Amino acid sequence: MTTDRTTDTSSLDAHWMPFTANRQFKQAPRMLARAEGMHYWTPEGRQVLDGVAGLWCVNAGHARPRIVQAIAQQAATLDYAPPFQMGHPQAFELAEELVKLTPPGLDRVFFTNSGSESVETALKMALAYHRVRGEGSRTRLIGRERGYHGVNFGGISVGGIVGNRKLFGTLLAGVDHLRHTHDPARNAFSFGQPAHGAELADDLERLCALHDPSTIAAVIVEPVAGSTGVLLPPVGYLQRLREICDRHGILLIFDEVITGFGRTGQPFAAQTFGVTPDLMTVAKGLSNGCVPMGAVLAKREIHDAFMHGPEQLIEFPHGYTYSAHPLACAAALATLQTYEEENLLTRASELHDYFGQALHSLRDLPLVVDVRHIGLVGGIELTPIPDAPAKRAFNVFLDCWEQGVLIRTTGDTIALSPPLIIEKSHIDRIVDTLAGALRRAA
Ligand SMILES: Cc1ncc(COP(=O)(O)O)c(C=O)c1O
Repeated sequence: MTTDRTTDTSSLDAHWMPFTANRQFKQAPRMLARAEGMHYWTPEGRQVLDGVAGLWCVNAGHARPRIVQAIAQQAATLDYAPPFQMGHPQAFELAEELVKLTPPGLDRVFFTNSGSESVETALKMALAYHRVRGEGSRTRLIGRERGYHGVNFGGISVGGIVGNRKLFGTLLAGVDHLRHTHDPARNAFSFGQPAHGAELADDLERLCALHDPSTIAAVIVEPVAGSTGVLLPPVGYLQRLREICDRHGILLIFDEVITGFGRTGQPFAAQTFGVTPDLMTVAKGLSNGCVPMGAVLAKREIHDAFMHGPEQLIEFPHGYTYSAHPLACAAALATLQTYEEENLLTRASELHDYFGQALHSLRDLPLVVDVRHIGLVGGIELTPIPDAPAKRAFNVFLDCWEQGVLIRTTGDTIALSPPLIIEKSHIDRIVDTLAGALRRAA
């Protein structure tokens, strides 16, 4: 007998859901049963417009036939291949295809299965790189307040979202944080990149003076901070961070798990903002969310620094059972072909103005205190309900869900990151629905 889990809520007990208010959810579950293109469908057959590409990952839209077929065919041909001391052709092909899209110099690829694993991998690479070059004193890692780098211990240590850190003890030792760049007093309602705040990058000089640069291995930032509520880098900020890192021999890591694969208007935010990091973490859009996959892109010098010593020895003792999984490689190869064929990785730059104007049309509605956007990522910050942080935005989320539009909230900011196949009519529908929900929430 099959259970109807939308009505029989006791059948939901066993699954402890991630980043979810479990008790609240299980009283009134929001289930998804099917997806195609720009839409989801609930088990009852209600259509829901996807304003967030699933979770910032389904950049080419849902259930694209080429990707679906590639996964099915791969499963039937080579279901699994051990990635340690063995290889399979698709992994090498995918790495080669990927480096055609990345900024020059970032041409060595290490595969993982998620954004969190990419972050851990990049942090370990940075520490080990300095050590193999004889600069083992560089053990310190610098993150940024409000940063999100996944949920593993390295990621929450360099991350700066208190709710994700406070339950988990002392985290990694030797980590410090830059100040965040959110400055609504000077930058509220900027159209695109905010003008003020490049000088906040000088915070890195302060940390260099405090700790001495010879102890610092790497700085990790999201070029656009996503999970904390879509914070854009002020004009000149990332350039300044790059200069300070260069001056002091510190590696710069861009966490492009959200910004990668076309979100900001170029394949990577590094290209949108004209700053090349030393290491870049990706995931999500790499495989269009169909099969879990992540990667770290490394500068060739970093890779080459490891390629010394006896050839029979493993140079970098790190990797996962499912690194470069054949199904993930097949999905990612088909995803990259889809992006190329449909010019999706630059589509967000074409829609930047339209999307921005649509979002900014909400600025005079009640509760809206800021609108932020670049390419096809947007944030609408709301006044919180006194003593109930995050509840206001969540109420708006529930209202939009009832109206058939999926948005996302982080704190009291509404975050939008639709699939890159979005049409202007979909943007209008998302924004009209939001406007109605904001009026009702006031
Ligand atoms: C910038 C950034 N880094 C890392 C992660 C973690 O990725 P995952 O959830 O795939 O582990 C995320 C997830 O949203 C992210 O936004």
